[in-house]
Formats: sequence, C-alpha cells, structure tokens
Amino acid sequence: MTPSRDTTEAICADIIATSARPLAQAQTLPRAAYLSEGYFAHEVEHVLSASWMCVAHVSQLPQIGSYLALDLLNEPLVVVRGNDNAVRVLSRVCPHRAADILHSCFETPEQAVTTRFLCPYHAWAFSLEGKKLASMHMDKAEGFDKGEWNLSEIRSAVWHGFVFVNLDGKASPLAEQYAKFGEAISPWSTAEMEVAISLEWECDFNWKVMVENWIESYHHMGAHVQTLQVTMPARSTWTEPEQPSFIHCHLPFRPSNAAEIRTAVAEGQTMPGFTAIAGLPVERQVEWGLYLGHPCFMFLTMRDRVLWYRLQPISAERCKLLTMTLVSKEAKLAPDYDATIVAETKMLADFHLEDMAVNTAVQAGLRSRHAVRGRLSHLEEPVWMIQRFIASHLQQTPSRQAAE
Ligand code: FES
Ligand SMILES: [Fe+2]
Repeated sequence: MTPSRDTTEAICADIIATSARPLAQAQTLPRAAYLSEGYFAHEVEHVLSASWMCVAHVSQLPQIGSYLALDLLNEPLVVVRGNDNAVRVLSRVCPHRAADILHSCFETPEQAVTTRFLCPYHAWAFSLEGKKLASMHMDKAEGFDKGEWNLSEIRSAVWHGFVFVNLDGKASPLAEQYAKFGEAISPWSTAEMEVAISLEWECDFNWKVMVENWIESYHHMGAHVQTLQVTMPARSTWTEPEQPSFIHCHLPFRPSNAAEIRTAVAEGQTMPGFTAIAGLPVERQVEWGLYLGHPCFMFLTMRDRVLWYRLQPISAERCKLLTMTLVSKEAKLAPDYDATIVAETKMLADFHLEDMAVNTAVQAGLRSRHAVRGRLSHLEEPVWMIQRFIASHLQQTPSRQAAE
C-alpha cells in the first residue's frame, strides 16, 4: 500500500526535483510513482494522453476495410483503413447508448476486414470513416439530425509507417517532435516493412518499469549475461545527447563480431537471420540502434529487421505489451523465411523473458517498505532522460501552474 503522505502533488514535486539533478547525482524515482493509482491517473492525463502513442503499423491494415481494435488508457479505439485508403483512428463508442461496438463480449475479431461497422446493440451502422449510415426508427425523435451522430475521430498521424494517436488532441505535431528520430531511422524504410512476428505479454508492472528496462543496456551484464552481453557488452553502450521527444542509444558489437560483419558485407556473404535491409551503411550494421520515442514508443534497429514494442498502460501496476518484429518485403520472399521465423521467434521470446523476469522483480521490490531510492550508473543515462521528460510534462500541469 502506498503511504498516505505520497499525495499526487508530493509525488510530482519529488519527480521534478529528482530530474533536475545532474546525471552524476541521479537517483531513481520515488516508489509511489510506480504504485499510486492517483499519480497514475495524473500521469495518464498530463503525460500519456498529452503525448503521441503508437497503436499500429500500416502493414497491419493492408487493404481498404482492414481494422485493428485496441484499448488505450480506457479509450476503446479502432484503427481502420478507409475507402479513401487513408488510415484513421476512430472511437468505438456508439453515439446512441455508448456501447463499445467491437467489445470482446460480442466475440468480434480484434483484427479483420469489414465494409462497415455495425453496433450490435440497436444495429446502428457506420462507414469505415465513422460516418453514420443507418439508425432505424429514429423518425419520431424530435430534432434528430440523421446526418450527425458519427463515431468520433481521434487525432492521429502516420510517421514512417507507424500510426500514432494523441488522445488530448493538443500535442505539437508528431512530424516535428520526431523529425531527427525520423532522419536517424530513414535507411530502414519502415513504411515499406511488414510485421512478421507478434507476441503478446500481460505485464504486472508499471509502464515506466518497462520503458526504463527497454532503454538502458546496463542490465546486459546481469539479466542478459548469457545472451546480449556476449555480443553487445554493457560497458560499450552509449547515448546521444538529450532530445526533448526521443532517446537514441547505440549498442556496438564486440570488435570480433563487428569484424565478421564487415568481412561478410565486403565479400557479399549471407549471414544468419532475415535478408539484410538493402543499402544500410556498414557502420549501422555493426550495432543495434535503440530508441525510445517519448513516452513509450520502443523501437530497435538491426541489420535485417526492426523491433517495435507497443505498450498499453492499464493501471499503476499493470500494462499490456505487444512485441513485434518487422522485416522487409524481400525478406518475406526468401526461401528460408519460414525456418528463420521459427528460430527468431524463439530467440526473441528467450531474451524478452529475461526482461519480463527482472521487470516483475522490480515491481515486487517497489512494493516493499524497504525499497530505497537507488543511485544510477552513467550507463543509465536514458533512465535519467525519461525522468526529465516526465518532469517536463508535470511542470506544465494546470494544478502546478496555479500553485506557483
Ligand atoms: S448503443 Fe449502439 S445502436 Fe444503440
Ligand atoms: Fe533487456
């Protein structure tokens, strides 16, 4: 249970003070930032809903009428490709009596192709663009305008093939926020890639435990000592200078691994894994590029694929995670593609299980009254950057502005 002195206001003040320390003095956030439902609600409103959150990749919506339903911060949403071929995000809340038109209780698929949406309650129908098409027996409702009563459209943006939403509608344009991020990943042509592997995880930990674990590589020497540490030792990882909207880290391979790749590239040899991304500079092939688009767009580049983790925070101590691998269209045509998928799915699950274990252990530790404020290594600079991003949003909240 969270101590009563941990009011949301006190937690916000603590986070703002903590993030103002220089990296050499950095420490972890107060445990209440990971446990308090009151603070989580504040974060939903002022950090998560105020930012851009990734919900889909265009390859998941391959044709007109393709849709994908998901719940994000208690908002039932559907991402859909309309008759004009544009991808939109609509609210699934029926404007009649508020039924979630694709709720799991109706046993409709989360992802499918349709020509229109039909509310199962009173059979109102909506187009792929959310426009109401039919509402029977409403002719005696005074002033009922048949041209109104559409599904609400949520503010969205497609960036390098990824579909993002901004729930409060007030964030600055995504293309501006992620401009430099987009330049860094452009050689991968992610808009042309396709989701090849998708694994779903129910997580009993706070969303920040997940993004902190994602973006720091100090833990290679513990959690991944027999896997990632072997090729990408923690001590060699480094972080680009701070940006307001994203974090970019480099995970260089050991010199012997890098030399093998340089030789293979120079001699045109095939390497294990998927078909390599065409035209990648060799310097980008001898490391993994690790990114966090604030607040929770987790993205990783490799020589033959990218990884994308979609995070749906649910409560202070729960979130849902989808871990996805995207490959090029050429990779899908390779003769050994099916065998590679089997091997890579196992590899991904194995190293991700190592992360799931430590994240679960951290949340369990945070529940203890013996959890102290830890100090951060210089290798955890990205964790400090996350604190600073969150604090920048908390500083802008109306309650604090009024108090100042
Ligand atoms: S609630 Fe959807 S048609 Fe009535
Ligand atoms: Fe990890």
